[in-house]
Amino acid sequence: MSLLELDGVKVHFPIKKGLFFDRTVGHVYAVDGISLKVEAGETYGLVGESGCGKTTLGRSVLRLVDITEGSVVLDGTDLAKLPGEEMRRFRRRLQMVFQDPLGSLNPRQNIESILSEGMVAHGIGKDQEERREKIKAILERVGLPSNALSRYPHEFSGGQRQRIGIARALVLEPDVIICDEPVSALDVSIQAQVINLLEELQEELGLTYVVIAHDLAVVRHISDTIGVMYLGSLVEEAPSDALYAEPKHPYTKALMSAVPVPDPEVEDKRERILLTGDLPSPANPPSGCRFHTRCPWAQAERCATERPQLRDLGSGHRVACHYAEEIAAGTLKRTTGEVVSATREGVEDAPAAEDDEPATKTPAASAAETEAEADTADAAKAAPVDGADAGDGADAGDGAETVDKAETVDEAEAEAEAESTDAAEAAEKAEPAVSAEKAEKAEQSEAAAETETETATETETETETETESKAESETAGKADSVDEAASAGTTEEPQKAV
Ligand SMILES: Nc1ncnc2c1ncn2[C@@H]1O[C@H](COP(=O)(O)OP(=O)(O)OP(=O)(O)O)[C@@H](O)[C@H]1O
Ligand code: SF4
Ligand SMILES: [Mg+2]
Repeated sequence: MSLLELDGVKVHFPIKKGLFFDRTVGHVYAVDGISLKVEAGETYGLVGESGCGKTTLGRSVLRLVDITEGSVVLDGTDLAKLPGEEMRRFRRRLQMVFQDPLGSLNPRQNIESILSEGMVAHGIGKDQEERREKIKAILERVGLPSNALSRYPHEFSGGQRQRIGIARALVLEPDVIICDEPVSALDVSIQAQVINLLEELQEELGLTYVVIAHDLAVVRHISDTIGVMYLGSLVEEAPSDALYAEPKHPYTKALMSAVPVPDPEVEDKRERILLTGDLPSPANPPSGCRFHTRCPWAQAERCATERPQLRDLGSGHRVACHYAEEIAAGTLKRTTGEVVSATREGVEDAPAAEDDEPATKTPAASAAETEAEADTADAAKAAPVDGADAGDGADAGDGAETVDKAETVDEAEAEAEAESTDAAEAAEKAEPAVSAEKAEKAEQSEAAAETETETATETETETETETESKAESETAGKADSVDEAASAGTTEEPQKAV
């Protein structure tokens, strides 16, 4: 039996109307029948467009939202049926790391207080002294200085705050950590550090992760299995390599067709599948196959009326499409949907990008580039994310080393002192490295860039201290939510309370 098993999980939010009589006039079908298994010690990556229900699914596992139907079985116990008090005890074994590290940390508590809160609630450590020692060890493990204990969240940079979020989960010794967009709020260079840290912790502590992301590059290199969600359902699930090598669902194909290929010859011939229409509302999902309104292969009748189930097409590659085999074999012709040359599309979308590389890249562009670089280097699992870390200038293969070097914040800060801003800019502009010397230069520059960002944030936060009273009054609402969440023994994300 798998460590975590979801079977037919549905989360439907009622839509209420009326001033005096609360009438339910419909439902938001945020999660609509998801079944998946997460093996102990592995990582399950969940990807999909914004609003497809990823966060709701994650929250349903922790019972932070009510499950309308289905079961969530952790280690043989169905959490969906557990009474409140028992569920509270189980929650120690299931922790969540949130997208916005600052928003999920109470600004009025110091780090020791934030981290010991859950330990006290779950009876970990016989006294505060013992808890403090454990917190110190974990802070060190996640790369934070021991003096972090007495500091407040606003005194840390974004990357450091995410490390605190991870430490908060770790002190409770969980079995499963659900990471909801753990790096999407972070600078691209810091993203790689956090992803690497998660991987190292998994190896050391045998953790099991569910990583939610909209960035294909992030989930690819950390996940053993990947599930692709569309409008509350899983449309495809496969071992990570198999999914990227041969996506079988039309939606996954369209997503993947947007990812650049590192080989220039292949890239020149790459075709991009353009989906037509907008993502339908989860309050009014299309009949039959949810994707039929946008699917380039949609067939009359069947696709609009019959909802496809996830079918195993072999080696654990599950696809929810009536015509997956025919599409893979090329015997089913596209009925709609434009296919354009990726090169042409790139030229049309961003005419200036041809000659002049923009000074600031969008995260999506960086991630795509990262992917391309990493693939070129044929690097190991973590490398492509590391490639992003190398700030476009370094060889992806060296990325891992870069991250390791700047792994702890202290080291990174020390390096920052020795480096200049110009060096960071140079790394940004540098061509893909071919010589060892060039790669090394870019590596150093990149480390400087990372630390520059962190130092800058720290300086910013110092200035913020002056206006602390204003900030505190602004965040008071959030803080209350945190308090409530903490006292209820939950890990509910305060700013996202709905
Ligand atoms: N408490 C709620 N009440 C009503 N609708 C909700 C609630 N929470 C989420 N939804 C709706 O459910 C759908 C799925 O939301 P969810 O936050 O799970 O998506 P997501 O995939 O995590 O998106 P994103 O990538 O933007 O974080 C959305 O349409 C959202 O508006
Ligand atoms: S079932 Fe039909 S509409 Fe749905 S993905 Fe397959 S071909 Fe497209
Ligand atoms: Mg979300």
